[in-house]
Amino acid sequence: MCGIALIICGIRFHLSSLFLNSTLPVLNSDQLAFDIDDLREALRRRGPDRLGSTKLLLHSPILNRLPVREIVSSIEGEVKEESGCEGDEGNCFSLENGRTPHLHTHFSTIPCSSAELHFLGATLQLRGVSPVVQPLIDSAKNILVYNGEIFGGIDIGSDENDGEVLLQLLGECCLGSIPGVLSRIKGPWAIIYWQESAKTLWFARDAFGRRSLLVHWPTEEDSRLLLSSVSPVSSNEHSSDIEAENGTTKLNFWEELRCGIYSISMDAPDVDGVLVGEVKKHDWTNPVLEELIKWERTYVEPKPEDLHISHSKSLTGKHDTHLVNSDIVPIKSGSIQVSISVPAQAVLIALRESVMRRSSLHTVFQAGRLDMRKEIVPVAVLFSGGLDSMIIAALLHQCLDPSYDIDLLNVSFDGRSAPDRISARAGVNELRRIAPSRKWKLVEINAELSTLTFETKHVMSLINPANTYMDLNIGIALWLAAGGDGWVYEENTNYNDEDCRCIKYKSKARILLVGSGADEQCAGYGRHRTKYRNGSWLSLNEEMKLDMQRIWKRNLGRDDRCIADHGKEARFPFLDEDVIRILLGFPLWEVTNLDQPSGIGDKKILREVAELLGLHEAASLPKRAIQFGSRIARESNRKNYGSNRAANQASAGSAVIHKRLDMA
Ligand SMILES: *[C@@H]1O[C@H](CO)[C@@H](O)[C@H](O)[C@H]1NC(C)=O
Ligand SMILES: *[C@@H]1O[C@H](CO)[C@@H](O)[C@H](O)[C@H]1NC(C)=O
Ligand SMILES: *[C@@H]1O[C@H](CO)[C@@H](O)[C@H](O)[C@H]1NC(C)=O
Repeated sequence: MCGIALIICGIRFHLSSLFLNSTLPVLNSDQLAFDIDDLREALRRRGPDRLGSTKLLLHSPILNRLPVREIVSSIEGEVKEESGCEGDEGNCFSLENGRTPHLHTHFSTIPCSSAELHFLGATLQLRGVSPVVQPLIDSAKNILVYNGEIFGGIDIGSDENDGEVLLQLLGECCLGSIPGVLSRIKGPWAIIYWQESAKTLWFARDAFGRRSLLVHWPTEEDSRLLLSSVSPVSSNEHSSDIEAENGTTKLNFWEELRCGIYSISMDAPDVDGVLVGEVKKHDWTNPVLEELIKWERTYVEPKPEDLHISHSKSLTGKHDTHLVNSDIVPIKSGSIQVSISVPAQAVLIALRESVMRRSSLHTVFQAGRLDMRKEIVPVAVLFSGGLDSMIIAALLHQCLDPSYDIDLLNVSFDGRSAPDRISARAGVNELRRIAPSRKWKLVEINAELSTLTFETKHVMSLINPANTYMDLNIGIALWLAAGGDGWVYEENTNYNDEDCRCIKYKSKARILLVGSGADEQCAGYGRHRTKYRNGSWLSLNEEMKLDMQRIWKRNLGRDDRCIADHGKEARFPFLDEDVIRILLGFPLWEVTNLDQPSGIGDKKILREVAELLGLHEAASLPKRAIQFGSRIARESNRKNYGSNRAANQASAGSAVIHKRLDMA
């Protein structure tokens, strides 16, 4: 799926259960109020297979002087389908069930004459055998727009579309059990759902925030409630300029929706003829999921004896009782390897299943693409040649039919002959060693920041509400990677050769595997080491917990939006529910050992996984963040601060972008 949005207007909201001080946030008055067409444009950019909208009108009986307290809702326009919209917009609507499509209907913004909910759903179809058009509407007039993937928890037949299955399940639900259905889903998702029988709107985002969903809570200036996968470009002019002249920070129009399940019931008592909607937040009903969200680890601090015998203990002892079933493969070689690999073995199995779920192609929608099937490269990996992306690539090889090529996407800002490409190239050579039969394509994407003025502006709107240089640098790297436009070397190139010939190539893989979540869960960041040195295991654990609990806010929404902009879907194997559970189940000292130097002790357990996969070189690579590895940070510092050194002194990475300073 691909992107969703909703605008509600003409309703007075009660937000008091969400915001303790019930005063509405006050926006700066120069904020633009944008309408459904702005949201539509932002989603259309993603190049969906289909983009549809549905408007729901709610009539308050009081307005009509009816004695009965009942809200009547009606759907206007039904679903309209837009397809083949690239380029010429005038003629790109097709008729659905013979109804007349509304061409570019323009809606007045605030205030609305009546209460209305306007749904948008863009579909990049990856599952099911017949085309799906969102919003999905069932016979009971429930409406669903959905952006996600169900990888487990709910059974999806191999020829079924997960959105349609979800619509059916939600429809079967009696009032109150909507959170029950949503709590079962394993995988990344964001939804907006109108439950007709209860006159209730539901919106929700998965527990880790692996799919973006932005919200505009009603304010004095703009009393509507808006939800959207991405913020439209027009809003960015204002929102990026959030530092006011006198240094106070203004509120952004959009914020990341905090993960969870929300409802707005529309039948609260109304006042002077205006419908009132009461916003509530609901708990997850799945205890396993609750555990993952709390992210409490049982064994954080080792006793001295744990450090000596921890490995053999976990062979027989308490820690592994809940581990994955019986298929832990015994390692044949020497006893030392057996002892290092029992927890790693479990992580390896969980990760392999995670990659399997994220790359199984029997569920990939292929109608109309039969001609292309032969040469299709369905899945790509965001690739640095570092530990995380090497593990993902090696596992993808094990999961994917041998006849498919695999694209490894690498961005560099250091020019063609980048010395920076060294570890990516070395990584491909190592993958070729362990998987010689696979055709690996290293796609080298070369960028020069100075020529990317237009793109930079665009990416600023994608990362919004994130707004630091660091966010922008990462955003640009991801956006370019997802674009997939680069160079590949001729077949069987040994990347150690100086003079190899390369060919222009554009990766078309719609699924992009990304290593997010590995550093947070396995202590890969430099500040983890700092915390450990200063405060030992407990403060390390606290820092990691903080990382996991804010990853939705700091990373995932931003990353999802930058990748989805190219009609690609980001999938995060390290953030699979089972992988998180398995990693959390081990004592912290099995996961990481920060007494050892960088490249050995950090992410210790993943290094062992790499060893098990035969990736001996990758197993000992130190961490390099994407924005430094690709040199975009250095280039951006030079551009904005004169030199890299000056920028470091000014802590440039975390500085908020001030529009006039650098985007001019
Ligand atoms: C500074 O910002 C605040 C809040 O936006 C505003 O009320 C105040 O008038 C501003 N002061 C000046 C000197 O611009
Ligand atoms: C180190 O720990 C002390 C107290 O435990 C604390 O006051 C200090 O801020 C910590 N420093 C860092 C860099 O975390
Ligand atoms: C490209 O590869 C280099 C190492 O060769 C790495 O440092 C950089 O982060 C990679 N870029 C991306 C976008 O993965």
